[in-house]
Amino acid sequence: MSETSVKSMEAIVSLCKRRGFIYPASEIYGGINGFWDYGPLGAQLKKNLRDAWWQDMIMNPCWGRSGPDGDRVRCVPVETRIIQHPRVWEASGHVGGFNDPMQTCKQCKKLLRADHVPDLLAESEWVASLAGVAGRAAQEQVLIEGTEVLKWTGGKGKKLAANLAIYRDAEASVRIVAKLRETTTPIALAEVIRIIGNTSSAENPWPCPICGGELTEPRPFNLMFPTVIGATGDWESDRAYLRPETAQGIFVQFKNVVDTTRVKVPFGIGNTGTSFRNEVTPRNFTFRSREFEQAELEFFCHPEESQEWYRFWRDFRMEWWQSIGLRGDNLILREHEKDELSHYSTGTSDVEYRFPFTAPGFGELEGIAHRGCFDLTQHQQFSGTKLDYFDTDRGETLPNGSKKGERYIPHVIEPAAGLDRGALALLCEAYTRDESRPSPEIMRFHPRMAPIKAAVFPLVNKDGMPEVAEKLHAELFRRFGHAGFIETDAKQSIGKRYARMDEAGCPYCFTIDGQTLTDQTVTVRDRDTGGQERIGLDKVKTYLEERLGV
Ligand code: GAP
Repeated sequence: MSETSVKSMEAIVSLCKRRGFIYPASEIYGGINGFWDYGPLGAQLKKNLRDAWWQDMIMNPCWGRSGPDGDRVRCVPVETRIIQHPRVWEASGHVGGFNDPMQTCKQCKKLLRADHVPDLLAESEWVASLAGVAGRAAQEQVLIEGTEVLKWTGGKGKKLAANLAIYRDAEASVRIVAKLRETTTPIALAEVIRIIGNTSSAENPWPCPICGGELTEPRPFNLMFPTVIGATGDWESDRAYLRPETAQGIFVQFKNVVDTTRVKVPFGIGNTGTSFRNEVTPRNFTFRSREFEQAELEFFCHPEESQEWYRFWRDFRMEWWQSIGLRGDNLILREHEKDELSHYSTGTSDVEYRFPFTAPGFGELEGIAHRGCFDLTQHQQFSGTKLDYFDTDRGETLPNGSKKGERYIPHVIEPAAGLDRGALALLCEAYTRDESRPSPEIMRFHPRMAPIKAAVFPLVNKDGMPEVAEKLHAELFRRFGHAGFIETDAKQSIGKRYARMDEAGCPYCFTIDGQTLTDQTVTVRDRDTGGQERIGLDKVKTYLEERLGV
């Protein structure tokens, strides 16, 4: 095999469009920035991801394992609304604090998220050079010593700052420097940022990555989408918001779930659904979208046990992402530094994936946060409704052997995953190029995630083969159709049909040929190896049951 390990995002985006995984939303109207639709294969891929989360987090949490208390982990679902009472977002802190610092370019008027500016600069074609300093090593040394920090010089790429200039392209840099009779070596901005760090300062602000113009001071911009409820259309009195996270719906229904079911702390409540954030710079395909789906669990426990539960969930979530196919050093668990934590959190870890556009760095797939009792306390205060919990299993033992009970506000561990980012990671991980194959693009999805579970092909569309194929297809569809497509196709050569299935990520193809009609065996072709073997027609269902895990 001759596989390439470097994955091109352009190739992945193109395959996603061509094979019906992901389309730009409203494309026939020119698209709408930050919004993406899923085609037939993408919709099923995402459903498989959502179903796996639901199964392994709610129905059979942590694959039936015991938690740190020695009991089986218990979780229940809720399904809460996108629009909540506006006070919910005041209590959660989203109205006052869900702000990204923004900068506007005074020249081209582009609005940018301040923390994205260094990344955008690094991705741009601008180059830097230090006047009079020749050779890369010498330039790096000067930058490390910090004699001069990066400074923009007016957008034209002409004038040098004290000893540093940035140019729109390397060629211009060399030309200009030659004119100045200086010796220099252009360095890509990504390198400069890596060397000097990505912080901008008042004395040395980053320039606009689009035109090089001067950026305003960062100002807060609220990320919530406002809307108006009812016919009056009054933006002040009837204003509501599209939820920026599914988590708050859980906190708001905590009391109802406790009062109407038999759950006892420790237990979790899960919620999946669409969230909206008016991201200033949506980018990297679906990675940062304005509408996206989350799968969040709030796990309620006694404050004294919360650290153990935090570690338990952090480790399980990492294991879970590995179990659905994100393996190797593309996946990491990163514990936040103390200065990254919110004031109420005593621990947060991110499960991060090395996407082609973040490599060699990583992008967040899921955050696992110890939220303390912050959310329930806030909602208790803002709503005036008591949200504490009376734990009948705690407190001193009474003479009759029962417990006196203890009242407390549970602490919360929150594993918060993004399903669109998850689907994108699955697509990036699956994408493989193998030049030795007639059709080199293969999507190596984990069988549990694959949107097409199997395909049944008659070798030729005659001689009784289509009838056998149809019967097998119907049988497989009845058994596995709930988990994904079972395809059948009689057009084109068998090689082309296999290649089509490879691109769609179908793990197994079954071919009915002349021999099938005499000895009741079929060919199974494995997507990953391209290898083929013969098994009995009556063994196909079991063969798939053992491998698909659905
Ligand atoms: N309740 C906590 C919470 O919402 P978050 O880290 O802001 O935490 C959780 O979001 C997950 O939601 C992220 O790890 C990511 O996978 C996903 N997510 C957040 N913003 C997103 C965006 N703009 N586009 C796609 N996914 C996003």
